[in-house]
This record gives sequence, C-alpha cells and structure tokens, in this order.
Amino acid sequence: MRHDKSILAVVVSTSHIFAGTQGGEILVYSLDTYGCVKVIEGHRGSVLGLCLSQDQDLLFSSAGDRIVNVWSTKNFLRVYTIYSLYDVGDIFCVSYSSSLKTVYLGCQNTSIQWYDLREKDIRPPPDPKAHPAERTSRFFDSSGPGGVQTPRPRSTDDGPRNAVGGQSLEIHNQYIRQFAHFGYVYCMLIARGITSDDPNEEILISGGGDGVIHLWGLNGDKGGAIYEVQALGDDQEGEASVLSLALDGKFLYSGRLDGEINVWDLETYQLVRSLKTVTGDILSLSVGGGFLFSTGVNGLVQKFNRQYETVATFQAHRERVLASTFAYNSKCKPIFVTGGNDSTVAIWDVQDCISAPANNKRTSNEHLFEFLKEFVSYRTVSSDARYKGDCRRGASYLRSVFKNFGAATEMLNTKDSYNPIILATFRGNRLKQPARKRILFYGHYDVIPAENEQGKWISDPFSLQGIDGYLYGRGASDNKGPIMAAIFAVADLIAEQALDSDVVFLIEGEEECGSRGFVNAIQANKELIGDIDWILLANSYWLDDQNPCLTYGLRGVIHATVQVESPHPDLHSGVDGSANLDESLKDLIMTLAQLTGKHGKVRIPGFYDPILPLSQDEKKLYKDITQTLVRGNPDLGDPDELATSLMRRWREASLTIHRFQTSGPENSTIIPRLARASLSLRLVPNQESTVIAQLLTDFLHQVFDSLDTENSLTVTIDHVAEPWLGDFNNQIFQTLERAIIDVWGPTPAPSPSVAHRRKSSAGHAARAFAQRNSITSTTLAAGSGDKDAEEPASAIANGKPEQGMFVTKPLYIREGGSIPSIRFLEKEFGAPAAHLPCGQASDSAHLDNERLRLVNLYNSRRVFKRVFRELPKKE
Ligand code: BES
Ligand code: MN
Repeated sequence: MRHDKSILAVVVSTSHIFAGTQGGEILVYSLDTYGCVKVIEGHRGSVLGLCLSQDQDLLFSSAGDRIVNVWSTKNFLRVYTIYSLYDVGDIFCVSYSSSLKTVYLGCQNTSIQWYDLREKDIRPPPDPKAHPAERTSRFFDSSGPGGVQTPRPRSTDDGPRNAVGGQSLEIHNQYIRQFAHFGYVYCMLIARGITSDDPNEEILISGGGDGVIHLWGLNGDKGGAIYEVQALGDDQEGEASVLSLALDGKFLYSGRLDGEINVWDLETYQLVRSLKTVTGDILSLSVGGGFLFSTGVNGLVQKFNRQYETVATFQAHRERVLASTFAYNSKCKPIFVTGGNDSTVAIWDVQDCISAPANNKRTSNEHLFEFLKEFVSYRTVSSDARYKGDCRRGASYLRSVFKNFGAATEMLNTKDSYNPIILATFRGNRLKQPARKRILFYGHYDVIPAENEQGKWISDPFSLQGIDGYLYGRGASDNKGPIMAAIFAVADLIAEQALDSDVVFLIEGEEECGSRGFVNAIQANKELIGDIDWILLANSYWLDDQNPCLTYGLRGVIHATVQVESPHPDLHSGVDGSANLDESLKDLIMTLAQLTGKHGKVRIPGFYDPILPLSQDEKKLYKDITQTLVRGNPDLGDPDELATSLMRRWREASLTIHRFQTSGPENSTIIPRLARASLSLRLVPNQESTVIAQLLTDFLHQVFDSLDTENSLTVTIDHVAEPWLGDFNNQIFQTLERAIIDVWGPTPAPSPSVAHRRKSSAGHAARAFAQRNSITSTTLAAGSGDKDAEEPASAIANGKPEQGMFVTKPLYIREGGSIPSIRFLEKEFGAPAAHLPCGQASDSAHLDNERLRLVNLYNSRRVFKRVFRELPKKE
C-alpha cells in the first residue's frame, strides 16, 4: 500500500492495520480488503510509536510533537491528548497497561513518564497554554551551534485536522522517572506473567540508547509508578543502543544499533544467545508463528526459526524497514506487515508460520498424553548448542505445567549458562504438618539428538505419535514420559485433597551430558530445596517387556578423551612417510592397546581392587530374576549363564573405546598431525570415579612415556558419575513394591508360542548370541511375549489370580547405565533413593523409534500416586 511519506510505526488489530507516518498521519487499512479506510491527521511531527489497548478499543500514538494522542478504534476520534510540562523531545514509544489503565511514554530526554487514566477526572484541569502545541522548548528549540533556530510552525497555524477534541491530560510532575536510561528511550513493551505466578501481572520493558534493557514493575497504588526489577546488559561498557524489542513467551529479543540481536531468558535473566544479522541496525523485531523477524536499515528482513537459523532473507523495502509486526488476517492466516521509508506498507505471506497451542486444565489420561505430546515437541537436545533456545523453551513449558497444577517454581541457574534446573514444590496438606514428609523426584528434560533424515523413525521424533499402544517420540521414555506421569500423579492427589506430603521436583536439563552444572546449582540452592526424606526417580527400563521391575543399582561412568599431537603438520604419506617419523595415530593406538587385555580385561593397575564380592542375598536375587525370565522366554537358555551375563553388565566394570578422530582431510594418504579417541569406563559400587580417573590418566601417561616419542599426550576427563547402590529392603522400595503389585496385578503366564517380536531379525541374531553366553538387552526385549496388561486386576477372582496367572513381585534389578546425580543427591540430602523403571526393555532409549507403552505411562501415574500418598515418614 503506497503513501507519500515514510512509515515509522505499525500495529495490527483483529480488523485493522494502523500505520504511523512521517507526516503525522495514522493510516488505517482494513485487514480484510487491505483498503485504506481512514487517514487520521493526528500529529504535527512524525508518528514514532503506536500501540493498542488489550481490548483493542483504544489506539495510542506518540510523536515528534511531544504528544501522545489516544484514539477510539470505533470512530477514529480523539479521546485524550496527553503531554508533559517538561521538554521531553520526541516521544519514541508508547505502551499501555490495560490492567492499570496507565499510559507510558518513552522520551528523548531519557525519561519515562506515565499517566493513570483512572485519575483523569479527579486531577485539576490543565492550563491550555501549557500544551506543547502552544509553547516552545527551552532545550529542543534553542539555537544550535550556528545560532540558527529550526523554524517551527507558529502556534496560530491550524494543527492537524483530526488532532481535536477529547480530554486534555497533563502528566503529574511526580509521574516521571528521570534518567530511566542514560540515553534516549527508544522502545518499550508491556509483558505479562513474567515475574510472578500471576499470569496477568504486567511489567514494562524498555530499551535505550545506553544499550541497557530495564524491566520495570508497575505500582497500581501509586498511579502506575514504575520501579526497577532488573536491568539486562548493564554490566558491559559501551553496548550499542537497543532500538527494538520483541517478546516470545519468556524470551526477550533486543535489536541493537550494531546489527546484533540478543536473546534473553526472562526466567533466569541470562543472555542466551547473540545473533549476527545481515539487516544492519535493527530497527524493528517481531515474533510470531514460531519465527523471529528482524528488519533493518538496508531494507532487508531476516527470518529466524526457533534454532535461530536464518530461514529466509528478503528485500522488503527499497531503503529502511522502519516498522514491522506479525499478525493473523481476517481469515486467520499468518501475515507479516512492514513499513519503510519508501513510503509503503507491505503485507507478506508467511504461510509456514504456525499458531500457538491452546492451554487447558483437565487431568484425565488423554490430557496426560496431550501434555506429554507438547513436552516432546520441544527439541531439548542438551549436547548441541544449536538447541539451547529449544531447551530453554522446553524448560519454560515444563515450568508452566508445574505452575498450572499449583506448584511453587524456580528456575535454578547453572554456571556457564548450561540449561537451567527446574525446582517445583507441591506443598502437602498443612494440617498434616507434623508427619509431613518431603519426597524429592529427580528427572531430566533433556534428550539425546534425533534426526530422521534417513527415515528410520516411523514418525517424526519430536511429534509424539501413538501407534499400536505405544507412544513414539524422542524422550517418550527417557525421561519426559515418566516425569509427566509423576506430575499427573501429584495433580490427582491435589484434586482429591489427598496430598499430605511435600513433593519436590528437581528436573535438570544436562543429564545426557553428564549433568553439567548440577552439583554447584544444587549446593547453591540447598536452603530453597529444603530437607528431603526420600528420593525417587524413574529413568530406566524393565528387564524384558512384561515383568515390572525395581532398580536398586546403577553403574558409574568416566568419559575421557585421549589425544596425541605431533610437532609436525598434517603430512603426505608418500612424500613424507618414513619409519622414523613418530605418527600421532600410531602412538595413540599403541597407548590404548595397553588399556585392555584378552576379553576386555582392564589392565589399569588397581582398577578392580575396590570391587565388592557377591553376597549371598544378592545371589538369590539373580536366581529370582533368571527364573522369571526363562519362564517367560525359554529361548534364553541356561539360567546360570544368564545370571553371569547380567552380573557382567550390572556389577562388573568395563571399558569401551567409542571412536577415533584425526586431523587433516579424510583420505588415505594423510599422516594426521593429531589423533584423538573417546573412551568411557563403567564403574561399579565402591570404585570411586575420581580415584579411577586418576589411575587411568597416570597409566596412559606411563605407557605413552615408554614409547619415547616426540609427540605429546593429553588426557581429558570429560565427566564422571558415581555408581549408585540402593537399599532394596528400605521403606521406599517396600512402598513401591506394594504399589506395583496393586497397579499391575498378576502377570499372565507365558504362552509357548511367542507371538510378537519387535525386530524379528534382530531378535534372531540376539538369540544366537544368547547361546554364546552374551545376552544383550535386545535379546530380552525381543523374547517377550505380547502382554498388553489390559485391565490386569480383572484377572483376579476372589482375591486369587485366575489360572494361568502369576502374582509376581517386581523383579529387583540393577542397570549397566548411569545417572550422575543420584549418588550425589543421596549424600547431599542424607536421603535414600529408589528407582522405578517405567518403560520396557524394548523402549529403545537413545536409539531410533524410542517409545513408551501407553499402559506403562498410565500405570506409572497410578504407582506414583500411591507412593506419594503412602510413603511413611522416615524413621
Ligand atoms: N536413563 C539413562 C540411564 C540408564 C541407561 C538407565 C541404561 C538404565 C539403562 C540416562 O538418561 C543416561 O542416558 N545416562 C547416561 C549418563 C552419562 C551421559 C553420564 C549413560 O548411562 O550413558
Ligand atoms: Mn538417557
């Protein structure tokens, strides 16, 4: 839509587009036909800022004439004209708090001023001569260095045609915050539900020429007065001016004069990212439909997705894009509107943008599914910096779920800006105070990467899909599904007014990276977390697909990188290869070769010394396990061999070399300058991770030294996790056991013909393996019958299981995997942990087609509910 003056501001209501011009007009276009329905001649100077009230009844315009006019969007007549007695200069921006009915002005003289419209009739009427249209400014109208004064239209001139009528309102001289910024106040916006649990609480956010962003609280009892809540970016000297702001949930984007966009997490006030743009000075930022749009001085618009990758760049206007906004048109299609100094307003088709999901409060199993679906949709991959924003958004979503069910929540920052930890506390019934126990539920919202480029997933990994009774999606089992089941269990108890204990959730975002930052953050917030009686987690799997289990042990782990570097650069083996050249990769291999001997035996001196012998009690547990497994799947063969194989994975240590990396181009003539290997060791109880890490480092250096090479060796310990061994006789395991028996009921007796195999070929290969005494988790999953555990309780008649049914106790198992935080939490809070596996052996955590059986999700919710209710106070 063409005009004859630059477009400096745009806003869109559900029916109109409003565009402010350099000539002081506000152009009004129909959102339906894009026809111009009105030109409001509203100001003497450029219209610099526009905003709408929440109900869209009022339109606010601020301008270079030091006035804010307020218009009715029904008849486009002026309702109020607001001005200050101070010489404020240009009013760059205007915002309106609908709850406090207060208008905020961001001014060139560095002040923020406000007018509380609730006071409009109780304040004395202003002197008409005081109106800026009737006076000159001591400062802005003084003569410049050349002694020349900018000519101003004389006050007797006719003003703009529509700048008439309405009530004249003069700003109270106490309703001013001088030096709100040490620079011009360029941009402002109103945000809701940021600083408190009240979703309607409003704050004002302003960006200035000083490069700082201020978050202001609004005091409704003091005429909407602002008070500082937080400053962002004030710790850096000489930051470029903040010209534009946009908000996306709890993420604030600020556009700077130097063409940089800063991404702020308002949950933690941390700077999450800085994006370089191609748009030059960022004159406007808009958010909508899952995208961020940045516009700048060179007429370009740059569009970013949620991973902050540029998905489009286009020339929107010939020179500057001065204003932009994202909106939906009358047909609910997403549109992007821009205004430029080529005097046009442009509407862009942005079909790939999406609308926001709806919120609701019900707690049925269908809703558990819906919440989990949304949780899974956040790509919370902690190992890849590209997904940092997604991790924050996922954390923010999870926090909102906790809030939704009534928890008090905090985001705990981690040092080095690792993903934050969510702390959510559900308070138990206050009347039950003396016996009230406090249960800590630990989980992680981060997931392993999942790409579906080769189409190996049967559905999009980040869009939870129900197929044949299973929910497929990354994180379904590890660990988003179990977390959601636990939250809904608490919600059920709250709904029945039966939550007597406090349940404290600690959900971290770095578990898959060795729980980076966890220890420090927990130690720093110990007071806030409070005393803990019991620790519960749910981040492992059953041993097969049919027998519920309880996990009482995990291995520890050390991840290390071993690197050999040469003083020479990458070389050519034909040109430079000779026997007396010390090659990095050869040295690395010779060194690593000494780590293990026959059958993987670790040769680090002292490595096996701390490992505890097998007790008689424990031996019996293995017997229970193998009997049950072999009964369900006779293919598994000799129970004793099966027990040996389980022990190798659960109570014996191991070492794995994962991969090699070399410098230089990838072809077979290169002698790499540098060679690197990643390896890990799984540790078992009584092996201290830091001690073993030192033994490993010392041993590698000793071997390397003996090579007498001119190369150098570096051993880096990437992260360590302590092993964990729980007490399976304590009250938390006993409570879990009773709950499992009740919820899962009797297990059907195995049918001789095993009907369903997940991966039949893999199952076949795995069975062959089993015969050679090396049973993997795949074997156990593949060998399971198709036991859907439908209505399990119905199989019990007169309190006794029907024929062909076993009332089995859960199997007490250990795991070969690791969870770094568990042993630490036990020690830190002096509370014992127990581990309820929710998923089945065939869940494929970390692999393609990760899944969780729907029945397991729903029944885990029921198990948690009973445990949260019945767990006694610790003796
Ligand atoms: N849920 C797993 C732990 C696990 C693995 C339990 C296998 C049962 C069987 C957890 O999310 C995980 O992946 N842990 C990592 C930890 C590591 C990154 C420090 C592991 O075990 O490799
Ligand atoms: Mn995992």
